[in-house]
Amino acid sequence: QRPQPCTLVIFGGGGDLSRRKLLPALYNQALDGELPANFAVLGFAFEEMNDESYREFARDGVEKYSRQPLDSEFWPDFEVKLHFQQGSFTDPKAYEQLKKRLDEIEAKFGIPGNRIYYLAIPPALIETCVQQLNQAGLVMPMDGVSPFSRIIVEKPIGRDLASARRINASLCENFDEQQIYRIDHYLGKETVQNILVMRFGNAIFEPLWNSRYIDHVQITVAEEDGVGTRAGYYDKAGALRDMVQNHILQLLTLIAMEPPWSMDANVIRDSRQDVLHCLRPIDRNNVEQSVVRAQYGAGFWRGEEVPGYRREERVDNASTTETFVALKVFIDNWRWSGVPFYIRTGKRMPKRASEIAIQFKSVPPIMFNADRNHPLEPNVLALSIQPNEGLSMRIATKLPGAKVRIYPVMMDFRYGSTFGERSPEAYERLLLDVMAGDATLFMRRDSVESSWIWIQDILDAWADNRSRWLPEYEAGTWGPLEADRLIETDGRKWRLL
Ligand code: BG6
Repeated sequence: QRPQPCTLVIFGGGGDLSRRKLLPALYNQALDGELPANFAVLGFAFEEMNDESYREFARDGVEKYSRQPLDSEFWPDFEVKLHFQQGSFTDPKAYEQLKKRLDEIEAKFGIPGNRIYYLAIPPALIETCVQQLNQAGLVMPMDGVSPFSRIIVEKPIGRDLASARRINASLCENFDEQQIYRIDHYLGKETVQNILVMRFGNAIFEPLWNSRYIDHVQITVAEEDGVGTRAGYYDKAGALRDMVQNHILQLLTLIAMEPPWSMDANVIRDSRQDVLHCLRPIDRNNVEQSVVRAQYGAGFWRGEEVPGYRREERVDNASTTETFVALKVFIDNWRWSGVPFYIRTGKRMPKRASEIAIQFKSVPPIMFNADRNHPLEPNVLALSIQPNEGLSMRIATKLPGAKVRIYPVMMDFRYGSTFGERSPEAYERLLLDVMAGDATLFMRRDSVESSWIWIQDILDAWADNRSRWLPEYEAGTWGPLEADRLIETDGRKWRLL
Protein backbone atom coordinates (compact mmCIF):
# COMPACT_ATOMS: atom_id res chain seq x y z
CA GLN A 1 0.00 0.00 0.00
CA ARG A 2 1.39 3.42 -1.00
CA PRO A 3 0.93 6.53 1.19
CA GLN A 4 -2.53 7.94 0.42
CA PRO A 5 -3.42 11.60 -0.29
CA CYS A 6 -4.24 13.25 3.05
CA THR A 7 -3.94 16.24 5.35
CA LEU A 8 -1.79 15.88 8.44
CA VAL A 9 -3.13 17.95 11.33
CA ILE A 10 -0.48 18.43 13.99
CA PHE A 11 -1.94 19.20 17.42
CA GLY A 12 0.83 21.09 19.17
CA GLY A 13 2.18 21.93 15.71
CA GLY A 14 4.08 24.92 17.10
CA GLY A 15 6.12 22.80 19.53
CA ASP A 16 9.55 21.29 19.72
CA LEU A 17 8.65 17.90 18.26
CA SER A 18 7.26 19.55 15.13
CA ARG A 19 10.24 21.79 14.67
CA ARG A 20 12.91 19.19 15.32
CA LYS A 21 11.37 16.00 14.01
CA LEU A 22 8.02 16.13 12.22
CA LEU A 23 8.47 19.03 9.82
CA PRO A 24 12.04 18.02 8.87
CA ALA A 25 10.81 14.43 8.35
CA LEU A 26 8.05 15.63 6.03
CA TYR A 27 10.48 17.86 4.17
CA ASN A 28 12.87 14.95 3.58
CA GLN A 29 10.06 12.76 2.32
CA ALA A 30 8.88 15.51 0.00
CA LEU A 31 12.40 16.00 -1.34
CA ASP A 32 12.77 12.26 -1.92
CA GLY A 33 9.44 12.19 -3.75
CA GLU A 34 7.87 9.87 -1.16
CA LEU A 35 4.91 12.01 -0.09
CA PRO A 36 1.60 11.66 -1.89
CA ALA A 37 1.15 14.39 -4.53
CA ASN A 38 -2.06 15.59 -2.86
CA PHE A 39 -0.88 16.38 0.60
CA ALA A 40 -1.02 19.25 3.11
CA VAL A 41 -0.11 20.02 6.70
CA LEU A 42 -2.16 22.01 9.18
CA GLY A 43 -0.46 22.95 12.44
CA PHE A 44 -3.01 23.45 15.22
CA ALA A 45 -1.93 25.00 18.50
CA PHE A 46 -2.39 27.89 20.89
CA GLU A 47 0.67 29.82 19.67
CA GLU A 48 0.05 33.08 17.84
CA MET A 49 1.07 32.08 14.34
CA ASN A 50 -0.34 32.23 10.84
CA ASP A 51 0.52 30.37 7.64
CA GLU A 52 3.40 32.70 6.90
CA SER A 53 5.04 32.57 10.31
CA TYR A 54 4.47 28.80 10.45
CA ARG A 55 6.40 28.42 7.22
CA GLU A 56 9.25 30.41 8.76
CA PHE A 57 9.08 28.19 11.83
CA ALA A 58 9.25 25.09 9.60
CA ARG A 59 12.12 26.52 7.59
CA ASP A 60 14.10 27.11 10.75
CA GLY A 61 13.47 23.51 11.87
CA VAL A 62 14.49 22.11 8.49
CA GLU A 63 17.64 24.24 8.38
CA LYS A 64 18.71 23.07 11.81
CA TYR A 65 17.54 19.47 12.01
CA SER A 66 16.94 18.03 8.56
CA ARG A 67 18.84 14.97 7.32
CA GLN A 68 19.28 16.73 3.98
CA PRO A 69 20.16 20.42 3.64
CA LEU A 70 17.42 22.84 2.67
CA ASP A 71 17.17 23.13 -1.11
CA SER A 72 16.05 26.71 -1.74
CA GLU A 73 14.69 25.91 -5.20
CA PHE A 74 12.53 23.13 -3.85
CA TRP A 75 11.45 24.88 -0.65
CA PRO A 76 8.60 27.00 -2.18
CA ASP A 77 6.89 23.82 -3.49
CA PHE A 78 7.00 22.37 0.01
CA GLU A 79 6.06 25.42 2.04
CA VAL A 80 2.79 26.09 0.17
CA LYS A 81 1.53 22.86 1.71
CA LEU A 82 2.03 24.18 5.26
CA HIS A 83 -0.75 25.96 7.16
CA PHE A 84 -1.49 27.01 10.69
CA GLN A 85 -4.67 27.34 12.71
CA GLN A 86 -4.52 29.01 16.08
CA GLY A 87 -6.90 27.77 18.77
CA SER A 88 -7.41 26.20 22.16
CA PHE A 89 -7.71 22.40 22.36
CA THR A 90 -10.53 22.70 24.87
CA ASP A 91 -12.66 25.14 22.86
CA PRO A 92 -15.37 23.52 20.64
CA LYS A 93 -15.32 26.59 18.40
CA ALA A 94 -11.69 25.96 17.54
CA TYR A 95 -12.70 22.56 16.15
CA GLU A 96 -15.41 24.15 14.01
CA GLN A 97 -12.79 26.48 12.59
CA LEU A 98 -10.46 23.54 12.13
CA LYS A 99 -13.12 21.75 10.11
CA LYS A 100 -13.70 24.80 7.90
CA ARG A 101 -10.00 25.18 7.36
CA LEU A 102 -9.62 21.53 6.46
CA ASP A 103 -12.42 21.76 3.88
CA GLU A 104 -10.68 24.73 2.25
CA ILE A 105 -7.29 23.05 2.20
CA GLU A 106 -8.69 19.81 0.82
CA ALA A 107 -10.52 21.66 -1.97
CA LYS A 108 -7.34 23.56 -2.86
CA PHE A 109 -5.04 20.52 -2.91
CA GLY A 110 -7.49 17.95 -4.27
CA ILE A 111 -7.39 15.85 -1.09
CA PRO A 112 -10.35 13.47 -0.77
CA GLY A 113 -11.03 14.15 2.93
CA ASN A 114 -8.43 11.74 4.38
CA ARG A 115 -7.13 13.15 7.66
CA ILE A 116 -4.41 12.19 10.09
CA TYR A 117 -4.44 13.85 13.51
CA TYR A 118 -1.04 13.84 15.17
CA LEU A 119 -1.26 14.49 18.92
CA ALA A 120 2.08 16.05 19.84
CA ILE A 121 0.67 17.27 23.15
CA PRO A 122 0.96 16.51 26.88
CA PRO A 123 -0.92 13.31 27.82
CA ALA A 124 -3.31 15.24 30.05
CA LEU A 125 -4.85 16.79 26.92
CA ILE A 126 -5.34 13.60 24.91
CA GLU A 127 -8.80 12.79 26.28
CA THR A 128 -10.12 16.29 25.61
CA CYS A 129 -8.75 16.41 22.08
CA VAL A 130 -10.17 13.05 20.97
CA GLN A 131 -13.59 13.84 22.43
CA GLN A 132 -13.67 17.25 20.79
CA LEU A 133 -12.61 15.79 17.45
CA ASN A 134 -15.42 13.28 17.60
CA GLN A 135 -18.04 15.78 18.74
CA ALA A 136 -17.07 18.14 15.93
CA GLY A 137 -17.74 15.35 13.39
CA LEU A 138 -14.08 15.11 12.48
CA VAL A 139 -13.85 11.33 12.92
CA MET A 140 -15.15 9.32 9.97
CA PRO A 141 -16.39 5.74 10.42
CA MET A 142 -14.36 2.84 9.04
CA ASP A 143 -17.09 1.79 6.63
CA GLY A 144 -14.97 1.25 3.55
CA VAL A 145 -16.64 4.22 1.83
CA SER A 146 -15.79 7.31 3.89
CA PRO A 147 -12.37 8.92 3.68
CA PHE A 148 -10.05 7.79 6.45
CA SER A 149 -9.51 9.44 9.82
CA ARG A 150 -6.43 8.25 11.69
CA ILE A 151 -4.90 9.42 14.92
CA ILE A 152 -1.26 9.28 15.98
CA VAL A 153 -0.55 9.39 19.69
CA GLU A 154 2.88 10.22 21.06
CA LYS A 155 4.30 8.74 24.22
CA PRO A 156 4.00 8.97 27.14
CA ILE A 157 0.70 7.12 27.11
CA GLY A 158 -0.01 7.62 30.78
CA ARG A 159 2.32 7.71 33.75
CA ASP A 160 1.11 4.47 35.29
CA LEU A 161 -1.25 1.61 34.51
CA ALA A 162 -4.41 3.42 35.59
CA SER A 163 -3.77 6.55 33.54
CA ALA A 164 -2.68 4.53 30.50
CA ARG A 165 -5.92 2.57 30.69
CA ARG A 166 -7.92 5.79 30.95
CA ILE A 167 -6.23 7.27 27.90
CA ASN A 168 -6.69 4.08 25.90
CA ALA A 169 -10.36 3.86 26.89
CA SER A 170 -10.96 7.39 25.73
CA LEU A 171 -9.08 6.81 22.46
CA CYS A 172 -11.12 3.70 21.80
CA GLU A 173 -14.42 5.41 22.60
CA ASN A 174 -13.78 7.94 19.89
CA PHE A 175 -11.73 6.00 17.32
CA ASP A 176 -11.65 2.43 16.14
CA GLU A 177 -8.48 0.59 17.31
CA GLN A 178 -7.51 0.26 13.64
CA GLN A 179 -7.52 4.04 13.31
CA ILE A 180 -5.12 4.51 16.25
CA TYR A 181 -1.34 4.64 15.75
CA ARG A 182 0.56 4.76 19.06
CA ILE A 183 4.00 5.83 18.05
CA ASP A 184 7.25 4.57 19.55
CA HIS A 185 9.95 6.16 17.46
CA TYR A 186 12.45 3.42 18.33
CA LEU A 187 10.45 1.02 16.18
CA GLY A 188 11.06 3.31 13.19
CA LYS A 189 14.85 3.22 13.49
CA GLU A 190 16.55 1.35 10.62
CA THR A 191 18.60 -0.83 12.94
CA VAL A 192 15.58 -1.78 15.00
CA GLN A 193 13.65 -2.81 11.90
CA ASN A 194 16.70 -4.79 10.86
CA ILE A 195 16.30 -7.02 13.93
CA LEU A 196 13.45 -8.84 12.17
CA VAL A 197 15.41 -9.24 8.95
CA MET A 198 18.51 -10.37 10.74
CA ARG A 199 16.68 -12.92 12.87
CA PHE A 200 14.28 -14.29 10.30
CA GLY A 201 16.02 -13.57 6.98
CA ASN A 202 19.12 -15.61 7.86
CA ALA A 203 19.09 -19.32 8.48
CA ILE A 204 22.06 -19.34 10.84
CA PHE A 205 20.70 -17.42 13.83
CA GLU A 206 17.31 -18.90 14.61
CA PRO A 207 18.54 -22.41 15.52
CA LEU A 208 20.84 -20.87 18.16
CA TRP A 209 18.38 -18.27 19.40
CA ASN A 210 17.38 -19.87 22.69
CA SER A 211 18.44 -20.76 26.20
CA ARG A 212 20.47 -23.73 25.01
CA TYR A 213 23.03 -21.54 23.27
CA ILE A 214 22.52 -18.03 24.62
CA ASP A 215 24.04 -17.17 27.99
CA HIS A 216 22.48 -13.74 28.39
CA VAL A 217 21.40 -10.59 26.56
CA GLN A 218 22.41 -7.01 27.33
CA ILE A 219 20.44 -3.99 26.20
CA THR A 220 22.07 -0.61 26.71
CA VAL A 221 20.56 2.73 25.77
CA ALA A 222 23.04 5.32 26.99
CA GLU A 223 22.62 9.03 26.46
CA GLU A 224 25.33 11.59 26.84
CA ASP A 225 23.01 14.55 27.33
CA GLY A 226 21.49 15.55 30.63
CA VAL A 227 17.86 16.40 31.07
CA GLY A 228 18.24 19.58 29.01
CA THR A 229 15.17 21.72 28.43
CA ARG A 230 12.72 18.92 29.19
CA ALA A 231 13.10 18.96 32.96
CA GLY A 232 9.44 19.90 33.50
CA TYR A 233 8.30 16.65 31.93
CA TYR A 234 11.25 14.47 32.90
CA ASP A 235 11.22 15.17 36.61
CA LYS A 236 7.72 13.68 36.78
CA ALA A 237 8.69 10.70 34.64
CA GLY A 238 12.21 9.37 35.22
CA ALA A 239 14.17 6.80 33.22
CA LEU A 240 11.89 3.83 33.89
CA ARG A 241 8.80 5.53 32.48
CA ASP A 242 10.64 7.57 29.85
CA MET A 243 12.73 4.81 28.26
CA VAL A 244 12.01 1.34 29.66
CA GLN A 245 8.20 1.17 29.59
CA ASN A 246 8.18 1.92 25.88
CA HIS A 247 11.39 1.93 23.80
CA ILE A 248 13.40 -0.70 25.65
CA LEU A 249 10.56 -3.15 26.21
CA GLN A 250 9.79 -2.87 22.49
CA LEU A 251 13.42 -3.69 21.65
CA LEU A 252 13.20 -6.64 24.00
CA THR A 253 10.08 -7.97 22.28
CA LEU A 254 11.78 -7.88 18.88
CA ILE A 255 14.77 -9.80 20.19
CA ALA A 256 12.72 -12.35 22.09
CA MET A 257 9.59 -12.89 19.96
CA GLU A 258 8.70 -16.16 18.24
CA PRO A 259 8.87 -16.17 14.43
CA PRO A 260 5.66 -14.55 13.16
CA TRP A 261 3.88 -16.57 10.47
CA SER A 262 3.37 -13.54 8.20
CA MET A 263 4.34 -9.89 7.85
CA ASP A 264 0.78 -8.85 8.67
CA ALA A 265 0.73 -6.05 11.26
CA ASN A 266 -1.38 -7.95 13.75
CA VAL A 267 0.55 -11.19 13.41
CA ILE A 268 3.81 -9.40 14.20
CA ARG A 269 2.21 -7.49 17.02
CA ASP A 270 0.76 -10.69 18.47
CA SER A 271 4.24 -12.22 18.61
CA ARG A 272 5.62 -9.13 20.33
CA GLN A 273 2.71 -9.11 22.75
CA ASP A 274 3.36 -12.73 23.76
CA VAL A 275 6.79 -11.71 25.05
CA LEU A 276 5.28 -9.06 27.31
CA HIS A 277 2.91 -11.68 28.72
CA CYS A 278 5.87 -13.84 29.67
CA LEU A 279 7.90 -11.20 31.50
CA ARG A 280 8.52 -12.50 34.99
CA PRO A 281 6.93 -10.05 37.45
CA ILE A 282 9.45 -8.21 39.57
CA ASP A 283 9.30 -9.31 43.19
CA ARG A 284 7.97 -6.24 44.97
CA ASN A 285 9.56 -7.25 48.26
CA ASN A 286 12.99 -7.66 46.75
CA VAL A 287 12.94 -5.10 44.03
CA GLU A 288 16.57 -4.06 44.53
CA GLN A 289 17.70 -7.55 43.53
CA SER A 290 16.42 -6.92 40.02
CA VAL A 291 16.25 -3.15 39.64
CA VAL A 292 18.77 -0.42 40.41
CA ARG A 293 17.91 3.23 40.07
CA ALA A 294 20.18 6.23 40.43
CA GLN A 295 20.52 9.91 39.69
CA TYR A 296 23.42 11.75 38.13
CA GLY A 297 25.50 14.01 40.31
CA ALA A 298 27.90 16.71 39.18
CA GLY A 299 30.66 15.64 36.85
CA PHE A 300 32.14 16.23 33.44
CA TRP A 301 30.60 16.27 29.99
CA ARG A 302 32.93 16.63 27.01
CA GLY A 303 35.56 18.05 29.31
CA GLU A 304 33.22 20.63 30.84
CA GLU A 305 32.01 20.64 34.41
CA VAL A 306 28.25 20.02 34.60
CA PRO A 307 25.82 20.22 37.53
CA GLY A 308 24.11 17.26 39.14
CA TYR A 309 20.49 16.48 38.25
CA ARG A 310 18.98 18.21 41.29
CA ARG A 311 20.80 21.40 40.33
CA GLU A 312 19.42 21.44 36.80
CA GLU A 313 17.01 24.22 35.91
CA ARG A 314 13.39 23.41 36.70
CA VAL A 315 14.26 20.28 38.67
CA ASP A 316 13.08 20.09 42.26
CA ASN A 317 16.23 20.22 44.40
CA ALA A 318 14.90 17.36 46.54
CA SER A 319 13.91 15.31 43.52
CA THR A 320 14.09 11.53 43.78
CA THR A 321 13.52 11.00 40.07
CA GLU A 322 15.89 8.40 38.62
CA THR A 323 17.98 9.35 35.60
CA PHE A 324 19.47 5.87 35.36
CA VAL A 325 17.98 2.45 35.73
CA ALA A 326 19.43 -1.05 35.39
CA LEU A 327 17.33 -4.19 35.44
CA LYS A 328 17.65 -7.94 35.36
CA VAL A 329 14.68 -9.42 33.54
CA PHE A 330 13.55 -12.97 32.77
CA ILE A 331 11.15 -14.14 30.12
CA ASP A 332 9.40 -17.23 31.40
CA ASN A 333 8.78 -19.27 28.28
CA TRP A 334 10.47 -22.33 26.75
CA ARG A 335 12.80 -20.38 24.53
CA TRP A 336 14.20 -18.08 27.19
CA SER A 337 13.93 -20.10 30.36
CA GLY A 338 16.74 -19.04 32.71
CA VAL A 339 18.36 -16.51 30.33
CA PRO A 340 18.80 -13.13 32.01
CA PHE A 341 18.24 -9.95 30.01
CA TYR A 342 20.28 -7.14 31.55
CA ILE A 343 19.02 -3.69 30.69
CA ARG A 344 20.55 -0.30 31.47
CA THR A 345 19.68 3.19 30.38
CA GLY A 346 20.62 6.60 31.63
CA LYS A 347 21.33 10.20 30.95
CA ARG A 348 24.78 11.80 31.32
CA MET A 349 26.62 8.62 30.47
CA PRO A 350 30.11 8.81 28.93
CA LYS A 351 28.72 8.58 25.41
CA ARG A 352 25.60 8.15 23.31
CA ALA A 353 25.50 4.46 22.54
CA SER A 354 22.62 2.04 22.13
CA GLU A 355 23.32 -1.59 21.66
CA ILE A 356 21.77 -5.01 21.99
CA ALA A 357 24.34 -7.74 22.66
CA ILE A 358 23.57 -11.43 22.51
CA GLN A 359 26.23 -13.33 24.41
CA PHE A 360 26.44 -17.01 23.55
CA LYS A 361 27.52 -19.73 25.93
CA SER A 362 31.16 -20.70 26.17
CA VAL A 363 32.46 -23.81 24.46
CA PRO A 364 33.32 -26.67 26.83
CA PRO A 365 36.75 -26.01 28.39
CA ILE A 366 38.32 -29.04 26.84
CA MET A 367 40.59 -28.08 23.97
CA PHE A 368 41.72 -24.48 24.19
CA ASN A 369 41.78 -23.31 27.77
CA ALA A 370 45.43 -24.02 28.36
CA ASP A 371 46.68 -20.53 27.69
CA ARG A 372 45.88 -18.40 30.73
CA ASN A 373 46.89 -15.18 29.00
CA HIS A 374 44.44 -15.68 26.21
CA PRO A 375 41.27 -17.12 27.73
CA LEU A 376 38.64 -18.10 25.23
CA GLU A 377 35.99 -15.40 25.03
CA PRO A 378 32.42 -16.38 24.19
CA ASN A 379 30.81 -15.30 20.90
CA VAL A 380 28.88 -12.07 21.06
CA LEU A 381 26.53 -10.78 18.42
CA ALA A 382 26.19 -7.02 18.95
CA LEU A 383 23.57 -4.94 17.20
CA SER A 384 24.53 -1.33 17.35
CA ILE A 385 21.34 0.73 17.25
CA GLN A 386 23.05 4.11 17.28
CA PRO A 387 25.31 5.85 16.48
CA ASN A 388 27.50 4.00 13.98
CA GLU A 389 24.65 1.63 13.18
CA GLY A 390 25.65 -1.90 12.36
CA LEU A 391 26.22 -5.42 13.51
CA SER A 392 29.30 -7.20 14.73
CA MET A 393 30.15 -10.70 15.76
CA ARG A 394 32.97 -11.65 18.04
CA ILE A 395 34.62 -14.92 17.05
CA ALA A 396 37.69 -16.77 18.19
CA THR A 397 40.58 -17.17 15.75
CA LYS A 398 44.07 -18.54 15.92
CA LEU A 399 46.84 -16.01 16.27
CA PRO A 400 49.33 -16.56 13.44
CA GLY A 401 52.37 -18.46 14.68
CA ALA A 402 53.65 -21.88 15.55
CA LYS A 403 51.66 -22.19 18.80
CA VAL A 404 47.87 -22.46 19.02
CA ARG A 405 46.97 -19.17 20.61
CA ILE A 406 43.45 -17.88 20.44
CA TYR A 407 42.45 -14.31 19.81
CA PRO A 408 38.97 -12.76 19.60
CA VAL A 409 38.30 -10.82 16.36
CA MET A 410 35.29 -8.90 15.11
CA MET A 411 33.32 -9.52 11.96
CA ASP A 412 31.85 -6.14 11.35
CA PHE A 413 29.11 -4.63 9.21
CA ARG A 414 28.38 -0.87 9.31
CA TYR A 415 25.44 0.73 7.54
CA GLY A 416 27.46 3.86 6.79
CA SER A 417 30.32 2.16 5.00
CA THR A 418 28.17 -0.42 3.20
CA PHE A 419 25.21 1.69 2.12
CA GLY A 420 26.72 5.16 2.16
CA GLU A 421 23.98 7.75 2.56
CA ARG A 422 22.38 8.53 5.88
CA SER A 423 19.36 6.34 6.61
CA PRO A 424 15.95 7.96 6.87
CA GLU A 425 15.00 9.17 10.34
CA ALA A 426 12.55 7.07 12.35
CA TYR A 427 9.77 9.65 12.01
CA GLU A 428 10.06 9.63 8.21
CA ARG A 429 9.31 5.95 7.99
CA LEU A 430 6.58 6.03 10.62
CA LEU A 431 4.68 8.95 9.09
CA LEU A 432 4.67 7.24 5.69
CA ASP A 433 3.40 4.05 7.33
CA VAL A 434 0.42 5.89 8.81
CA MET A 435 -0.36 7.48 5.42
CA ALA A 436 -0.27 3.96 3.97
CA GLY A 437 -2.33 2.44 6.81
CA ASP A 438 0.40 0.07 7.99
CA ALA A 439 0.34 -0.35 11.78
CA THR A 440 3.12 -2.96 12.08
CA LEU A 441 5.55 -0.60 13.81
CA PHE A 442 2.99 0.92 16.17
CA MET A 443 1.88 -0.18 19.60
CA ARG A 444 -1.45 -1.80 20.09
CA ARG A 445 -3.60 -1.10 23.13
CA ASP A 446 -2.84 -4.48 24.72
CA SER A 447 0.91 -4.02 24.37
CA VAL A 448 0.87 -0.59 26.03
CA GLU A 449 -1.17 -1.97 28.90
CA SER A 450 0.87 -5.15 29.32
CA SER A 451 4.07 -3.18 29.58
CA TRP A 452 2.50 -0.89 32.16
CA ILE A 453 1.27 -3.89 34.16
CA TRP A 454 4.87 -5.10 34.42
CA ILE A 455 6.29 -1.63 35.16
CA GLN A 456 3.62 -0.91 37.77
CA ASP A 457 5.10 -3.47 40.22
CA ILE A 458 8.39 -1.58 40.16
CA LEU A 459 6.68 1.76 40.59
CA ASP A 460 4.65 0.42 43.52
CA ALA A 461 7.73 -1.06 45.16
CA TRP A 462 9.54 2.26 44.83
CA ALA A 463 6.53 4.07 46.24
CA ASP A 464 6.40 1.67 49.24
CA ASN A 465 10.06 2.14 49.87
CA ARG A 466 10.15 4.87 52.47
CA SER A 467 13.81 5.62 52.04
CA ARG A 468 14.17 8.61 49.75
CA TRP A 469 17.82 7.97 49.21
CA LEU A 470 18.97 7.25 45.69
CA PRO A 471 22.48 6.24 44.71
CA GLU A 472 24.27 8.92 42.74
CA TYR A 473 26.65 8.46 39.84
CA GLU A 474 29.04 11.04 38.63
CA ALA A 475 27.94 12.67 35.37
CA GLY A 476 29.97 11.19 32.54
CA THR A 477 30.24 7.69 34.06
CA TRP A 478 28.45 4.39 33.42
CA GLY A 479 26.14 4.55 36.42
CA PRO A 480 26.43 3.57 40.08
CA LEU A 481 28.38 0.66 41.58
CA GLU A 482 25.05 -0.98 42.40
CA ALA A 483 24.49 -1.47 38.68
CA ASP A 484 27.81 -3.28 38.37
CA ARG A 485 26.89 -5.45 41.31
CA LEU A 486 23.56 -6.35 39.72
CA ILE A 487 25.33 -8.16 36.91
CA GLU A 488 28.58 -9.11 38.64
CA THR A 489 26.84 -11.20 41.31
CA ASP A 490 25.89 -13.47 38.41
CA GLY A 491 29.54 -13.71 37.29
CA ARG A 492 29.00 -11.47 34.28
CA LYS A 493 30.05 -7.96 33.29
CA TRP A 494 28.53 -5.01 31.46
CA ARG A 495 30.06 -4.64 28.06
CA LEU A 496 32.50 -1.84 27.41
CA LEU A 497 30.99 0.46 24.83
C1 BG6 B 1 12.52 10.00 24.04
C2 BG6 B 1 12.76 10.29 25.49
O1 BG6 B 1 11.38 9.21 23.87
O2 BG6 B 1 13.65 9.33 23.50
C3 BG6 B 1 14.02 11.12 25.67
O3 BG6 B 1 11.64 10.98 26.02
C4 BG6 B 1 15.18 10.45 25.00
O4 BG6 B 1 14.29 11.35 27.05
C5 BG6 B 1 14.84 10.08 23.57
O5 BG6 B 1 16.28 11.34 25.03
C6 BG6 B 1 15.94 9.25 22.94
O6 BG6 B 1 15.69 9.11 21.58
P1 BG6 B 1 16.87 8.89 20.55
O7 BG6 B 1 16.18 8.63 19.25
O8 BG6 B 1 17.70 10.13 20.56
O9 BG6 B 1 17.64 7.71 21.06
